[in-house]
Amino acid sequence: MAPYRQGKPAAADAFKLSSNENPYEPLPAVLEAIAASPINRYPDGMATALRERLAERYGVTPGQVQVGAGSASVLSQLINAATSPGDEVLYAWRSFEAYPGLVAVAGATSVHVPNTADHRHDLVAMAAAVTDRTRLVIVCSPNNPTSTVVTRAEFAALMQAVPADILVVLDEAYAEFVTDPDAVNGTELLHSYPNLVVLRTFSKAYGLAGLRIGYALGPEYVMDAARATAIPLAVIDQAQRAAIVSLDHEAELLERVSRLSVLRDEVWASLVAQGWDVPRPHGNFVWLPTGEHTAWAAEVLTANGIVSRALGEGLRVTIGEDASVEKLLKAAQEVIERLRTGPSASALD
Ligand SMILES: Cc1ncc(COP(=O)(O)O)c(C=O)c1O
Repeated sequence: MAPYRQGKPAAADAFKLSSNENPYEPLPAVLEAIAASPINRYPDGMATALRERLAERYGVTPGQVQVGAGSASVLSQLINAATSPGDEVLYAWRSFEAYPGLVAVAGATSVHVPNTADHRHDLVAMAAAVTDRTRLVIVCSPNNPTSTVVTRAEFAALMQAVPADILVVLDEAYAEFVTDPDAVNGTELLHSYPNLVVLRTFSKAYGLAGLRIGYALGPEYVMDAARATAIPLAVIDQAQRAAIVSLDHEAELLERVSRLSVLRDEVWASLVAQGWDVPRPHGNFVWLPTGEHTAWAAEVLTANGIVSRALGEGLRVTIGEDASVEKLLKAAQEVIERLRTGPSASALD
C-alpha cells in the first residue's frame, strides 16, 4: 500500500494551499484554553464535556456523538466496525484521498463510482452499485477535491434506494463553507434515517487542524461500535478544550468562514472569466481540471508561489490568505493561456 501523502509544505515566500487548511491564526481564547491543560494527566477518553455540548447543539443524546482525533479517525473506526474482509465500501471517485487506505487497512474492498463529467457525485449510479457485499457507503459533500455538493433531493433518493442495514456516512468536513440552500445538510437528517452517520470536523472552519479533533453523529449503537474500535485516549485534552472554546466563539469563527466563502466565489468567478471550466466550489478550495497537464500546471503554480495539490487529473487549491489570490490568479492565467495556444503535453513538460 502507498502511504497517505500529505499536501506539500511551502517555501518561505510561498503560500501553502495544498491541505485545505484555515489561514487564520487561532483565537486568543483557544490558546488560553490549551495553555490551561494539565498535560501530566490523560485526557477524558470519552470526551464527555464536548460530546454533551455537541449533543445539545444537534438535538441528539451524548451517546449519539463520537469524537475522534480528526474526523478521519472516526471514519476509520466506522469502517473497522462495519466491515470484514471481502465486504465492500462504496464511494465516488475522485474523492478524499484517505478513503482507499482506510478501507484497505480494514481488509475491506473499495468500490469506486466515477463522478459525473461535471465533477459531481453520481448518486443514482452509486445506488445501483450496491451489492449484497456492500456494508458502507461514503458520500462526501462538499467533495474533496472537486468542491461540488450533493443536493438534498439527490441524497434523499440515495437514502431511499439503499437498504437500511447498510451504513451511509455523509462526510461533511467542509459543511460550514456551504452557502447553497439546495445542498444536503446531514445534521438536519439525523432523525430521519436509522443508518445515517454524519461526519464533521473542527479542522477546517474552526481552524483546529493541528490539534486533530472531529466527530460523528449517528445512531448510538453505531457510535458504540466506533468507540469499540477506537485507540483509547487518542483525543487529547487540549483538543477537547479548544473545540469547546471554539463553539463558545462560534460567531467569530463563522464570520471568518463567510469571508473565505466570499473569497472563494470571487476566485471562482475570476477563473471562469479567464476561461476555466471550474466546477462551482462549495468547500474552502477550488478544483482546476488540468487533465494530462496536471504535473506541469502544478509547477507553474509553484513557480508563482502557490503550493497546490496535484491529484491525478486536476489541481486542488485551497482558498487561503487574501494575498495568495493575486498569485493564484496570475498562475492560473498563465496555465490557461498556454493550454489555449495548444502546445502538446510533452512540449509543456
Ligand atoms: C472530505 C474530508 N473528510 C475528512 C477529512 C479529515 O479531516 P480531519 O481528520 O482533520 O477531521 C478531510 C481532510 O482533509 C477531508 O477533506
